[in-house]
Amino acid sequence: MPVLVDISTLYKCLPDGGQAEVHPVTDAAVAWKEGRIEWAGPASELPVTFEKESRLSAGGNVVIPGLVDCHTHLAFGGWRAAEFEKRLKGVSYLDIARQGGGIRKTMVQTREATPRDLRNHSLTVLRKMVALGVTTVECKSGYGLSADAERKQLELYRQLREIQPVDIVSTFLGAHIVPPEFTADRMAYVDLLCNELIPEFAGAGLAEFCDVFVEETAFSREEALRILETGKQYGLRPKLHVDQLYDGDGAALAAEVKAISADHLEYTGDEGIRRMADAGVVGVCLPIATLYLGQQSMKVRKFVDAGIPVAVATDFNPGSAPSFHLPLAMMLSCTMNGLTPAEALKGATCYAAAAIGRDGECGSIEPGKRADLAVLEVPDINHWMYQFEANVCTETYIRGVSQKPVSAAGYPEIQL
Ligand code: NIG
Ligand code: FE
Repeated sequence: MPVLVDISTLYKCLPDGGQAEVHPVTDAAVAWKEGRIEWAGPASELPVTFEKESRLSAGGNVVIPGLVDCHTHLAFGGWRAAEFEKRLKGVSYLDIARQGGGIRKTMVQTREATPRDLRNHSLTVLRKMVALGVTTVECKSGYGLSADAERKQLELYRQLREIQPVDIVSTFLGAHIVPPEFTADRMAYVDLLCNELIPEFAGAGLAEFCDVFVEETAFSREEALRILETGKQYGLRPKLHVDQLYDGDGAALAAEVKAISADHLEYTGDEGIRRMADAGVVGVCLPIATLYLGQQSMKVRKFVDAGIPVAVATDFNPGSAPSFHLPLAMMLSCTMNGLTPAEALKGATCYAAAAIGRDGECGSIEPGKRADLAVLEVPDINHWMYQFEANVCTETYIRGVSQKPVSAAGYPEIQL
């Protein structure tokens, strides 16, 4: 039963108190047993029961809950650096998509990727995420877009959960775009999702959430409604990519289907915000994607003022957000969206956990939660976000175990 001491400031990030309340405790200690937190508070108040337990040192550094990346597209084949250059030369993201690039290009490369390629890519990214202090990652399918290729992505996530320490939370995003085989009959693809893939993947426990990209080059509001309502019948909670490139009334849709989260939200208007607040939908801010696509920024302050918990995530994917650096996303949520560092921290921990239904497990430092912690070599969180460095995380604990980097070759093989 170790006790982590020498913590200059511990940010507990408890669910209460709103976006800005991160519950700092100076000169703190955290005790855990079998991977679960037993006690956290001022070191001077450590209960006598822990007095004889072994000590770990945080080296006089800051400790926060392990970061939760609640929106990623972790597994994909190939990158799209050439499109990055094209966009810099003035071709729009939508035009690239209309020309067969974008998500469709990654779909082709993901279908072609071997299970080993996908495994190695994912394990390498996860190792680097852990080094940044990330301990839980939501992972979407959506680059397979056929029964076999979607199954391959979700099955990969299931096996990754078993072989490596990061908690992986799976989302079925078969409704990312309509794959080319179905362009002449998009309804047939929606039928495939609703009649076959959702029942199969939900039944096999391969996903917890169902997500839809609502956009001109992706799915309509009506199609999304049908897909998400079907998902709900099979126990998949709805999530949505909405209002990313224009106001598509997506926030209201998220309220209507009682989505656990609505993500992107760059163009969401006041009425959508009101609807989300009433329905208790978490808003997920993805500033790396906003930055790379040169969109207007999500009006985060309006969401916070409406009482909506705002999570911050990377949206890691090969197109709109090729960086998996969650502290970078947090810093951008300050500089682009106007969150304070404390608000960004609550968004990448407690509220990110809420966005993926893990609020009982992680995202805050309190008894009963997993001992997922990140040690940061910074004076405080304001300084962390202000003087942005590549990485200030000196140690990451997952379920109470300090993580040492393990290369992809160091993990068991997978069978897909
Ligand atoms: O979240 N918006 C849809 N999907 C991704 C982009 C995927 C891609 O460009 O490959 C996103 O930004
Ligand atoms: Fe996304």
